Amino acid sequence: MNLILLGPPGAGKGTQAELLVKRFAVPHISTGDIFRAAVKEGTPLGVEAKRYMDSGQLVPDEVVVGIVKERLLKSDCEKGFLLDGFPRTVPQANALDGFLTENGRQITAVINIDVDFEVLLKRLTGRRVCRNCAAVYHIETKRSKVETVCDKCGGEVYQRADDTPETVSKRLQVYQEQTEPLIRYYEAKNLLLTFDGQKSIPDVFEEICRALEGKK
Ligand code: AP5
Ligand code: ZN
Repeated sequence: MNLILLGPPGAGKGTQAELLVKRFAVPHISTGDIFRAAVKEGTPLGVEAKRYMDSGQLVPDEVVVGIVKERLLKSDCEKGFLLDGFPRTVPQANALDGFLTENGRQITAVINIDVDFEVLLKRLTGRRVCRNCAAVYHIETKRSKVETVCDKCGGEVYQRADDTPETVSKRLQVYQEQTEPLIRYYEAKNLLLTFDGQKSIPDVFEEICRALEGKK
């Protein structure tokens, strides 16, 4: 299964990715997680990415495309992959298509998670993330543990620098301008599967799994 998760910031891509990679036994490739790890380590990539991320802008296409191609060439991707947060511009999608064609591979499906903007705003400003394993929480559903340690690994749970109300608004605007056109792009290729991301986390997951049944 070669899967792509598409959707606005806060739609639940990371949340569903955690569940999907367990079910389908494919690596989770989140460009956001890759950049956050680079920022934490203070690498040159991290220093460059931070400038864009903290203001809600996208990291330049050529930087992201290079990183994803390199990652997809690793042996664990031979059995498939789940791309989360990539592609998010039409040039990125074109670059991915070219790369997969060159390597004799194709996308199985694009999972598009749809959520209203007011709901996204609430989800993102209330989100907390584990610094160590990237597990995702929300203050309204996991308040007691969320403020201290991660349930899964004991790591520190924190608020992402780009989850402030001002940056969230900017990210939603960037999504509309640069990422939303990918819905039509993949619809035209007959790859798009759209889900109502306002249902509960297990319901969204079950619907995705049902839609993927029989696909390879
Ligand atoms: P990235 O990390 O990819 O962020 P994003 O796309 O903005 O997505 P999020 O991680 O914010 O949201 P999500 O959809 O994963 O939602 P989540 O599951 O956490 O990118 C960050 C930055 O990196 C970008 O702004 C950019 O600068 C850069 N970048 C990354 N990729 C790039 C690329 N390809 N090109 C250029 N730049 C790139 O859920 C959100 C909250 O909602 C959580 O609290 C969760 O618990 C809750 N929740 C989830 N599902 C449900 C549900 N069904 N019901 C109720 N609550 C729910
Ligand atoms: Zn953790």
